[in-house]
Amino acid sequence: MESGKSQKDLFEDLFSKALQSRIFINRELLSPDYVPQTLPFREEQLAKLASILSVSLKNERPNNVFIYGLTGTGKTAAVKLVFKKLKEKADEIKANVVAVYVNTRQKDTEYRVLAEVLDSLGVKVPFTGLSVSELYNRLFKAVQNKGSITIVALDEIDYLVKKHGDDLLYRLLRMNSELQRGKITIVGITNDLKLIDSLDPRVKSSLGEEEIVFPPYDAEQLKKILEERARLAFREGALSPEVIPLCAALAAREHGDARKALDLLRTAGEIAERNNDEKVETRHVEMARNQLEHDTVEAIVSTLPLHSKLILLATLKIIEEKGKATTGEVYSKYLDLVKKLGIEYITSRRATDIISELDMLGILDARVTSRGRYGKTKTITLQTSKEAVLKALLKDELIGAVINE
Ligand SMILES: Nc1ncnc2c1ncn2[C@@H]1O[C@H](COP(=O)(O)OP(=O)(O)OP(=O)(O)O)[C@@H](O)[C@H]1O
Ligand SMILES: [Mg+2]
Repeated sequence: MESGKSQKDLFEDLFSKALQSRIFINRELLSPDYVPQTLPFREEQLAKLASILSVSLKNERPNNVFIYGLTGTGKTAAVKLVFKKLKEKADEIKANVVAVYVNTRQKDTEYRVLAEVLDSLGVKVPFTGLSVSELYNRLFKAVQNKGSITIVALDEIDYLVKKHGDDLLYRLLRMNSELQRGKITIVGITNDLKLIDSLDPRVKSSLGEEEIVFPPYDAEQLKKILEERARLAFREGALSPEVIPLCAALAAREHGDARKALDLLRTAGEIAERNNDEKVETRHVEMARNQLEHDTVEAIVSTLPLHSKLILLATLKIIEEKGKATTGEVYSKYLDLVKKLGIEYITSRRATDIISELDMLGILDARVTSRGRYGKTKTITLQTSKEAVLKALLKDELIGAVINE
C-alpha cells in the first residue's frame, strides 16, 4: 500500500509540474500537425480553393485542382482547413459531399490510398488481400450508389508518383466519364515542381484544370504568423522580444518555410523549459537551431545505403587527418574499409556520384578544384556537424566495426 501511495504522489508531482509550465500555456498549438483556424497571408489561396470546391454543395463536380509551392508554405494546412469548413457546410445543408484527405507519403501504395477513400465513403476493405482493380470497382460502385461529389485530396503526390507512377491519378480522373451518378474531384498537392513534367500529358491537363500556387513567406510574414501562434501557445512574458524575429529571419533564409520557423520557436521553448529558465531568449533559439540541424543530419545519414555511409566515413577520416579530402583519397580509404569488412566494393565512378549526392543532401561540400588527365578532382569538406554525422553512422553495426580503423 505504502508504495502505491508514493507512486500516486510521484504521478501527482509529475503532472502538476507539467501543468505548471513557466513557458507554455499550450504547446500543442505549435506542433506541426496542428491546423490553425486562420492562416494569415493565405486568404487568396483559401478563397480560390473554397470557391472552386463550393459548387459541390450544389451537387456539381468541382474542377480538379493542382496545388504547389515549396515546403512549409501552408498547402496542407490550407487544404485541411477548407475541407473542414466545406464538410461543416455540407452537413448543415445536407449536401451529398464527401471530402477525404490522404497523405500519399504515409499511405504509400495505390491499395492503401483507395482503401482510405473507400473508408470515407463508408466501405470497409481489408488491409490486404483484394486486388487493386477490385478496389477500383468497389470505389466506382460506392460513388455511383451514393451519388456523392467525392473530393479526394492527395497530398505529397510526388512520393506516390515516384514510387508507383501516375496510374492512380489516371484511373481516378478517368472514372468520371463512366459515372452516371456522383463524381470525383482530385486535389493534388506537391512541393516538387518537377513532378508536373513527369506526369502523363492527359493526367497533367486534367489535374491542372485549376492551379493554386503557394509562394514562400518572407521574414515579415513569418513574424506575424509566429506572433499569432505564440500568443496562444506561450505564457505572457515568456518570450523575449527578439525571439520571434530571429526565428522568422532564420526560416526566411531557408526559403520562407513556416514549419521551420515554428519548429525553431517550439524547440527553443522546450529547451528553455527543460533548463528551468524563466524566459525564452535568443540563445535558446541558437540551441534549437543546432538541435534541429543535428536531428535532420542524423535522419538523413541513418537512412543512407551502406556504401554511401562508408564513403562518408572514409571522407570524415581523411578530413580529420588533413582538414579536407580529394575524391581519390576518399576512394582509397573507402577500399581499405570494405577490405576490412570483407564485402564487395563499388567503382570509383559510383563513389564520385555518391559524393555528389552527399553534397546535394547538404552533408558534404564537394567542389571541382582541378581537371587533370584522369578527370576532375573534387575537394571535399564537411557541411554539417561532424558529431551528428558520426552519431548517425555509429547506429550501423557494420560501420561500428570499422569506425576506429
Ligand atoms: N499562414 C499560416 N499561418 C499559420 N500557420 C501556418 C501558415 N502557413 C503554414 N503554417 C504552419 O506551418 C506548418 C507548415 O505548413 P504546411 O504543413 O501546411 O506546409 P506545406 O506547404 O504542406 O509543406 P510541405 O510541402 O512540406 O508538405 C504547419 O504547422 C502550418 O500550420
Ligand atoms: Mg504538406
